[in-house]
Parts: sequence; C-alpha cells; structure tokens
Amino acid sequence: DRDEDLVSRPPVVTIMGHVDHGKTSLLDAIRNANVVSGEAGGITQHIGAYQVEKNGQKITFIDTPGHAAFTAMRARGAQATDIAILVVAADDSVMPQTIESISHAKAAGVPIIVAINKIDKPQADPQKVRTQLLQHEVFVESMGGEVLDVEVSATKGTNLDKLLEAILLQAELLDLKANPDRTAEGVVIEAKLDKGRGPVATVLVQTGTLMPGDILVAGNEWGRVRALVTGRGEQIKEAPPAMPIEVLGLQGTPQAGDRFAVVNNEARAREITEYRQRLARDKAVARHVG
Ligand code: GTP
Ligand code: NA
Ligand code: MG
Repeated sequence: DRDEDLVSRPPVVTIMGHVDHGKTSLLDAIRNANVVSGEAGGITQHIGAYQVEKNGQKITFIDTPGHAAFTAMRARGAQATDIAILVVAADDSVMPQTIESISHAKAAGVPIIVAINKIDKPQADPQKVRTQLLQHEVFVESMGGEVLDVEVSATKGTNLDKLLEAILLQAELLDLKANPDRTAEGVVIEAKLDKGRGPVATVLVQTGTLMPGDILVAGNEWGRVRALVTGRGEQIKEAPPAMPIEVLGLQGTPQAGDRFAVVNNEARAREITEYRQRLARDKAVARHVG
C-alpha cells in the first residue's frame, strides 16, 4: 500500500498472564463498563474478541484464555496484536506464565502494559510486582522505565478508565495505520461448527474492508461471506481494519491463527484450498509413514 492510502486504525490488544490472575474478569469488566446503555439487554455472543470505544476512539480486545491462541498466532507469524496487557495479580505476583507471557510479547516485538490486578485484596502488594518484573526486564515508569502500569481491580471496576487511557496513549505512539480501500486480509482468531449456522469463524481484519459476498480463503477452507456478525449479534455490511467479526458462509472451519484473504473468484478459492488440503494430507501421510 502507498503511504497516502493509509488511515489510522484502532489498536488490537491481547490480554495475557498467569492462570487465574484475572484476564477474563478484566475483559468482562471493561466490556460491561463500556456497553452503551440500552444495548446491555441485547444478545451478546462470546466471540473471543470485541471492540470498545473510549473518548471516541476504538480499542479492539482479543480474549486469549491461557494465551494459547496468542502462541498459535505467533507461531504462524500472524502478528495479530499491537499491544499486550500483562495481567499480574497483586496478591500472587510474578508467576511462571507471567514470565512466559513476557517472553511471548518480547519475541513478537509487542509493547507491554502491566495491569496489576486484584488491588482490592488485603494481601495485595503492587510494589512487589513491580520489583519482580525488573528481574524479567520489564521496567515500569516508577522504576525508571517506560512500561506503563496501572493498578486495577476487575471485580471492583477500579481504574479501568486509566487502563484504557494507557492503551490509547501507547497506541498513539505506535501510530497504527491500514488501508481500508482494498480487499480484506487478516487472521482467524477462532472457529467453530455451529449447529444452526454452520462453520463460524471469528476473524480479525488487518487490512482492507471485509464485506458480505466476498470470497474468502482462510487456511485450508473457503467460502462466500453470507453474513458478518458483531459480538452483539448485529449484522453489518462492512468490517474495516482492526475489527473483529464473525464470518458466516465458510465451507469448513479454519484454525486459530490461520491467515485469511479475499480472492477474485470461486475457482481461485477452490484451487488454493484444494492445493493446501492436498499438502496437509501428504504431510499427514509422511508423518504416518515416517
Ligand atoms: P484463566 O483464564 O483460567 O487463566 O484465568 P483468568 O486469568 O482469566 O482469571 P479469571 O478472570 O478467571 O479470575 C480468576 C479468579 O480471580 C476469579 O475467581 C475471579 O473472580 C478472581 N478475580 C479476578 N479479578 C479480581 C479482582 O480484581 N479482585 C479479586 N478480589 N478477585 C478477582
Ligand atoms: Na480462571
Ligand atoms: Mg480466563
């Protein structure tokens, strides 16, 4: 894309951290606090990703339980995220998966924001968290570094605004851009076979704009987009860069971390996916024989 085609896009944020440190609680708290009133009663489906708006700016959150999806994505070279929120429980401090999360973020070259969670707990020791993070080369501001850190409580809803502001500040520094005026490309966040709706893939559009009618190739699968559905169950006509969206109309379920792209025609889509499926079969046979 030429520079003049690029426009600002929202940051894509992944929540990482040790088991039970509050990743899901934090995501839920942010979502609930930012649901536009009147929509709270709407049908909310879990799509593993959502967008919120803060001061008129959008932020995309990706829910990666146990950070497995993040690892899968990174392994496939799909740089899906711009910012990693490292959740550390203030009563438990730095634990093995905290350290693992730090290495994943560093290996992917993704800036970290530290959310020191559970500060409502009597045993909370946020200073200990900061000190322990030093040993893993995460230097927060109060320790003379540049990593933003925010003390939060997911259950009490404390400082969620501060966390969102830190994300927007970090995003501004990253100056994130994409070209919305081209065929869409991106990454599969998760996919499942839905009884009523058939294969459903939650994808993150990274460049271009995805539209119903588009012919999409995702990993070994393809399909004509029948509908684009938001996390609130609304059908939309356009998914711009950084928007997570459910895609209906695929013929099979791709895998988390698969890349997707829109192609010109069905023949091309068939050709690509048949070739990939053949490769996958040959590989499986080779493994079996070998
Ligand atoms: P995994 O996905 O299993 O790795 O866990 P998680 O990091 O998503 O943690 P989860 O949100 O499931 O929270 C784990 C437990 O911590 C739950 O019992 C939460 O209610 C509790 N918890 C989360 N955030 C807070 C908090 O801010 N304060 C207190 N007191 N408890 C919290
Ligand atoms: Na948990
Ligand atoms: Mg969780």
